[in-house]
Amino acid sequence: MSFSGYKPSTLILWAVLSLPALAALPALFGDDPRAFHGLLHPTGEWAARFMIIGMMASGLMLLFKGRQWPRWLVHHRRDIEVAAFLYALAHTVIYVIDRGTLDRVVEALPHTEIWTGWLAMLIFVPLALTSNDTAQRWLHAGWKTLQRWAYPAAILVLIHWAALHDWGSWPPAAVHFGPLVGLWAYRLWYWYLRPRPVAV
Ligand code: HEM
Repeated sequence: MSFSGYKPSTLILWAVLSLPALAALPALFGDDPRAFHGLLHPTGEWAARFMIIGMMASGLMLLFKGRQWPRWLVHHRRDIEVAAFLYALAHTVIYVIDRGTLDRVVEALPHTEIWTGWLAMLIFVPLALTSNDTAQRWLHAGWKTLQRWAYPAAILVLIHWAALHDWGSWPPAAVHFGPLVGLWAYRLWYWYLRPRPVAV
């Protein structure tokens, strides 16, 4: 694999996106099962954070029209969303290893905080696999429809997070999702409710 085709800004971005993974390495390769279990927290949180940042790009561009930095974010959105998926994948693998047996994984499924995570992950897989130019060309207009599934998946992640520890996790979930939900509301207002000059 060669990085020669990538712009320096993309390489710097990936270096930054990799930092939480680097911080996780000692727990990943150490032999303390509690430290390994503890990885569920940062992997889940960074998956959600990067997903949220990627999904905020369009709204920020609309809100800060003409500014350069939201354009940069929109341009790199795919990298950020792929990183979010990789953290979510690591989170899922760590969860499964931590549960130990398939029976214990299945046993936990009826809990709201668990099935919502699985369902979100199930939606993320086709979205991540089609996050490339070839798939975009191949799927034509269907690509946009498919990518719109990111919205229900994000809502499932919000419920997954908030429902943890008997819904005791709702404050950090609300703090993280607040800006994204605010931007969604702004976009809806902008496209459907904004007063427009009446044509005469
Ligand atoms: C594949 C299915 C998933 C399962 C079974 C699962 C399971 C879990 C579990 C058991 C925890 C609790 C960790 C703890 O407190 O010890 C957790 C936390 C979390 N998960 Fe997931 N998860 C899944 C998918 C996802 C996805 C797709 C995302 C985001 C994109 C995500 C984001 C989070 C977040 C933000 C937390 C809270 C971190 C914390 O503050 O502890 N999870 N997950």
